[in-house]
This record gives sequence, C-alpha cells and structure tokens, in this order.
Amino acid sequence: MNVEPDESWTALRTVAEAARRAAYAPYSQFRVGAALEASNGRAYAGCNVENASYPVTVCAERVAIGAAVADGVRAFERLYLCSDDEEPVAPCGMCRQALVEFAPDLRIVSRGTSGETKAWRLSELLPAAFGLDRAAAHEAADGDLA
Ligand code: THU
Repeated sequence: MNVEPDESWTALRTVAEAARRAAYAPYSQFRVGAALEASNGRAYAGCNVENASYPVTVCAERVAIGAAVADGVRAFERLYLCSDDEEPVAPCGMCRQALVEFAPDLRIVSRGTSGETKAWRLSELLPAAFGLDRAAAHEAADGDLA
C-alpha cells in the first residue's frame, strides 16, 4: 500500500530521521531509524548498531523497544521507520517477532529516501505469530514495575 501518512505521523518521522543519522552502520553503510510511539504518547528512538562480529548487530526497531522497556513502557501504538534505501523498508523477521510481543496490531509507516511511504499493520506482516500467553506474561511482568 502506498499511502501518504497524515500529519499525526510528522513528529514520529522527525524522531526516526534523527535516529537514522545517529545509526552506527560502518559495515553495511545502511542506516535505519525507528520511532516507536507508546500508548502514553511518548516516542522512543532506535537506530541500528552494528558490530565487527556481524551477528551481534542490533536493528533499529529492537533498540527502540529496549529503550522503551528500560523506561518502564511496554504498550505501543505506532512505529515509524526510515532508512537509506530509496524504497520504504519493512521490519526484518526478527524485529517483527520482537514487536509482536508488545504490540500485535502495531501500525507501521516506513519511508524511503525517494519520499515514498508504505503502511502496514504488524498483524499482516507477521500472521499466525508465535506467542505464549501474552496477557499472562504482561500481567506477571507488570508486577516487576512496582
Ligand atoms: N536493519 C534494521 O535496523 N532494521 C531492519 O528491520 C532491517 C535491517 C539493519 C541491520 C543492519 O545494520 C543493516 O540494517 C543492514 O542489514
């Protein structure tokens, strides 16, 4: 789907673009920025962080999840993604699984350098996702926040 996201996405886009500029991607030269909007309205930034031992690399989306969770936030509404690709990129499979843990129906917008955007629901990018009893897991883990 090629959509022009409405202006409610503009602030998230700004956060994602700033994160992309901060990306540490000396090996791929492919920077990715993410802005994960929490249910409380706050936006958490993430960028890819690469490593000389390539598999150690962490994607922008999972860095954003980590930033939010470390801030005590676990409920998310929207994700804005941008990268150095002309085309809008979709989250990789590992990130889809990481996101579904917290936001199975997350709304996602991605923007390429050409200005083209795409939008998805996480549920369409990762149908039939693996998950144990998420509600019980969240309930159990919320006790830790006290
Ligand atoms: N990357 C992300 O940050 N997010 C994705 O969803 C796909 C890939 C990063 C990982 C690596 O640093 C670079 O893009 C090239 O794969």
